[in-house]
Amino acid sequence: MSLYENLGMAALRSLNAETAHKAALLALRYGFAPMAGKVTSPRLKTQIAGLHLDNPVGIAAGFDKNAQALGALSQSGFGFVEVGAATPRPQPGNPKPRLFRLSDDRAVINRFGFNNDGMEAIAARLAKRPDHGIVGLNLGANKDSPDRADDFARVLACCGPHLDFATVNVSSPNTENLRDLQGAAALRALLDGVIATRDGLPKTRRGSLPIFLKIAPDLNLTEIEDIAETALSAGIDGVIATNTTLARPDSLTSYHRVEPGGLSGAPLFEPSTRVLAQLSRALDSKLPIIGVGGISSAQDAYAKIRAGASAVQLYSALVYQGLSLGPKIARELGALLDRDGFTNVAQATGTGREEWL
Ligand code: FNR
Repeated sequence: MSLYENLGMAALRSLNAETAHKAALLALRYGFAPMAGKVTSPRLKTQIAGLHLDNPVGIAAGFDKNAQALGALSQSGFGFVEVGAATPRPQPGNPKPRLFRLSDDRAVINRFGFNNDGMEAIAARLAKRPDHGIVGLNLGANKDSPDRADDFARVLACCGPHLDFATVNVSSPNTENLRDLQGAAALRALLDGVIATRDGLPKTRRGSLPIFLKIAPDLNLTEIEDIAETALSAGIDGVIATNTTLARPDSLTSYHRVEPGGLSGAPLFEPSTRVLAQLSRALDSKLPIIGVGGISSAQDAYAKIRAGASAVQLYSALVYQGLSLGPKIARELGALLDRDGFTNVAQATGTGREEWL
């Protein structure tokens, strides 16, 4: 971390968590943050669902919910950025406070509940995005929607023309009953609607828009296998594993550990990597997986790749270590691949899966 970033992070830590996040996004929008530029090498360059990434380290959904900082984020040295979640109508989310730092645990609890500016405002910003870099949108549903499954398709129809990928997020713990949509029948109907909408979008220069499904870490093996089967039969392009957890490991010591909401950061690393490995086995390499949950170092990113991921994302560790952590992880990941004799990311994918099963 640079001195500049260090001072910025210290200032941000003295604010409440949500205000600090807003300040960080503002700093990004107005160019007050150091930018790494493009971080890439032949070893780090990779492909996922037809997308060509400079490196496999992405920013997870929720960091730039309203697509306000895409200009800066596309220069920040990450291989790809996922914005959102966006819902059809704007909604305020849950009452504040709803974001808590668990500093002693290197973790975060949030119960935002899809606060966002709505798909039209977000589509207008996406329309002005830089044309380099890979940008995806996390699709969500309004809390009071009479047909939540249809919300995903509506957001996709509105924003799809400006995207490189879209993610069906049925795994956020902060919208009541949303995760019920992970059940086989409901999930299949939802995915069929989303894919029909995708197929109606104008083709991009790369062909049709990849659709990913993001799952929760709080699933048993049978549920994971059911989701894998549904994902394969519905014809989606990849799975993101995982979202935040409702579990509260005994190891937590921070004052805020009892707050309701989704837990992310270091304590999520093990459970989410186990789900990733189980999913990888269930999918049998037929679909790529993006691994997310608790990554705070190149070693963590490498472990996710070896457990079965083709690319990774992170969010919570950025709260503690700043945005320059992304390009640092990417560079060091290159060195780890080199050390172990891998000439690219794909060669390493899944090579350590058995250790997690
Ligand atoms: C999130 N996450 C999230 N995920 C998602 O699919 N849609 C969303 O809108 C959000 N919003 C959100 C807000 C905040 C404040 C946090 C901390 C997280 C989940 C995120 O994308 C990721 O899956 C988890 O946080 C796990 O990764 P980390 O944070 O442990 O690296």
